[in-house]
Amino acid sequence: MTADTSQATATAQPNIALVKYWGKRDATLNLPAAGSLSITLAGLHTRTHVHFDPALDADDVALNGARDTAQTRKVSAFLDLFRARARVDTRARVTSSNDFPTGAGLASSASGFAALAVAADRALRLGLGARNLSRLARRGSGSAARSIFGGFVEMSAGTRADGEDAFATPLLAADAWPLTVVVAITARGAKSISSRAGMEASQRASPFYRAWLATVPEDLASARAAVQARDFEQLARVSEASCLAMHAVMLATRPALLYWNPATVACIDCIRGLQRDGIGVFFTIDAGPQVKAVCLPGASSRVAAALRGVGGVQDLVTSTLGAGARVVPDTAA
Ligand code: PMV
Repeated sequence: MTADTSQATATAQPNIALVKYWGKRDATLNLPAAGSLSITLAGLHTRTHVHFDPALDADDVALNGARDTAQTRKVSAFLDLFRARARVDTRARVTSSNDFPTGAGLASSASGFAALAVAADRALRLGLGARNLSRLARRGSGSAARSIFGGFVEMSAGTRADGEDAFATPLLAADAWPLTVVVAITARGAKSISSRAGMEASQRASPFYRAWLATVPEDLASARAAVQARDFEQLARVSEASCLAMHAVMLATRPALLYWNPATVACIDCIRGLQRDGIGVFFTIDAGPQVKAVCLPGASSRVAAALRGVGGVQDLVTSTLGAGARVVPDTAA
């Protein structure tokens, strides 16, 4: 085939894990050591345009208008997976932008690689389908496999060495249980240590790593059942436990991974106070200092007002749950 008009635009949203992923069973294929369960957000978007252009000698990658050698290398290696499937070696121009703060603990790598997978698939007319796109998005970032789908999503770790059984599947549509997430931004700027490096360190040097992995199957079963039954109390219990167990593994890593700041702890305290007042809310925290408050419909304005008053909270981002990655009309990002 000739690839000279091969271009497409896709959009994807970040997701937040409720049962966390922390550790790999294979670094090359980026296979998770255990499953995870997440919610895809609605209000934050990555928009990515990919143009495979025979006039190019090298991939040209602009993220939020900036070019970075390490990012370009990562995106090139990712696009190679698609080029191999399409049997082309045409280089691509990629322009991608986020309408939310990048690298601020808002899972921009999840939406970024999910959007890139969908755009590359369409531009090369591969028609791979959502399950294959989830497998491929995983190669860019483990959490990206989940952003291919909307609403409540479960990621399987699989057991196969080739990783063919490590992909995400949708559990429940976003509008079937319309929860809202309020993100309390407690620090700006890129995190001190990436998820990839942090996971490797925990796996190598946290005495709690094996014990953490052993908790995941039961937590997944409990969270899956809570989602199916729309049981908020149960989802709150298992999500907070999974988050805190992951952070316990991080803290026990030598040297320690401490992603929190004083405002992170103050937000947890605030959310616990709201829970005592009977408000439907729970917290989850990823590899960074931001606190994500997951709220029952109707609770989010009260939660946002309370978190806004916490010392050290710099900003709030509120989002409902949304759709998976998809192709959008073909205009440059
Ligand atoms: O796949 P990555 O590199 O974005 O790692 C995700 C790690 C956590 O956000 C901490 C947990 C998760 O399951 O999203």
